Amino acid sequence: MTDIEKAAEIIQEGGLVAFPTETVYGLGADALNPLAVARIFEVKNRPQFDPLIVHVADVRQAEILVLKFPEKALRLMEKFWPGPLTLVLPKSNLVPDIVTSSLPNVAIRVPNHPMALELIRQSGRPIAAPSANPFGGVSPTTASHVRQSLGSKVDMILDGGPCGIGVESTVLSFAGREPVLLRPGGLPLEEIQSLIGKVSLEAATSEKPLAPGQLLNHYAPRTMLVLDIPPADLPRDKKIGLLAFQKPEDPSAYAWVEVLSPSGDLREGAANLFAAMRRLDEKNLDVIIARLVPNEGLGRAINDRLTKASRKSN
Ligand code: TXA
Ligand code: MG
Repeated sequence: MTDIEKAAEIIQEGGLVAFPTETVYGLGADALNPLAVARIFEVKNRPQFDPLIVHVADVRQAEILVLKFPEKALRLMEKFWPGPLTLVLPKSNLVPDIVTSSLPNVAIRVPNHPMALELIRQSGRPIAAPSANPFGGVSPTTASHVRQSLGSKVDMILDGGPCGIGVESTVLSFAGREPVLLRPGGLPLEEIQSLIGKVSLEAATSEKPLAPGQLLNHYAPRTMLVLDIPPADLPRDKKIGLLAFQKPEDPSAYAWVEVLSPSGDLREGAANLFAAMRRLDEKNLDVIIARLVPNEGLGRAINDRLTKASRKSN
C-alpha cells in the first residue's frame, strides 16, 4: 500500500492526515464527517467560531457543496483552480455546520499539489483542512514543521517537501453582492482584479476582526515581533533578530539576521517567510524586528502576516 493509499484510508475512517499543498501544509479530515472535523479543532486548539477551508479535487466536487456560483466566481475558478485561491460561497445542506462555524457559506479551494489532489481523489471525500499548526502560530511549510508542533497528535503526515508558494491561499468572499477580499495570500490581488474588476479590501485591512480569520495576533512566533524600528532606536542591551526583505542595514547590530530574498523577489520572499520566522524563533532572542516589503503582488500577503504576527493579543 502506498503512503497516499494509507492516508486516504485514515481520512475515510475519520482520522487526521497532515498533507502538503502548494501554499502551506494542511491538517485534513473528511469534511462530511462532523466528528472527524471536531478533532481538527481539538488538535489545533482552534476556537469553533473560526471556520475551515474545504479542499476538493475539481469543480465537479465543489458543485455538490455549493448552492450556486456567481458568474465572477465561475470565471475565477476556471482561471485559477487548481491554485492558491479560496472562494467563500453559499453552502449546500451537505456541508456540516461545524465546518463553516454555522455560517451559511463555505470556503472552498482546489489545491495545486499532486499529493493533495491524489489524497482527495483516493479518499473520495472533500477534505476540510486548516494550516497544520497550533492555533495562532506560524504555518508549516515543511513536513518537519508539522512534526515539531503537532507530531503525535495526527494519525499521519504526508511529506511532499517544502511548499512552493509558502503563504496561505487568498480568501475571497462571495457572501455579499460584491466580492470581498478576506485574506491576501498566494494569488496576488492584481491577478484577481484584472479578471473580475474591483474587489473590496475593507475586511482584509480593517483593524477590527470583521470576518472570521481576521483575528488579531495570528501567524505569530513566540518571540515578540515588532515592525520597522529604525536601527538607531534599537535597545543596546537586548538580543535582537532582524527579518529583512533584501540586504540588511548594519547586520552587526543584530544577533541573527534572516533575509527573505537577496534579489528582492516577492515570490521567493513569500516562500521563505515562515521558515525564516521559525529559525528566528529558535535563537532565544529578546525581540525580532521585521521590515515590511513592497505592498504589491505577494508582498501584500507577506505584509499581512508580518502585521498580524506583530500584534499583541491584548
Ligand atoms: O492555503 C491555505 O488556505 C491553507 C491550506 C492548507 O489550504 N489553509 C489555511 O486554512 O490557511 P486556515 O484555516 O489556516 O485559514 C482559513 C481562512 C481563515 O481565515 C478562515 O476564517 C477563513 O479562511 N474561512 C474559512 N471558512 C470561511 C467562511 N465560511 N467564511 C469566511 N471565512 C472563512
Ligand atoms: Mg492558519
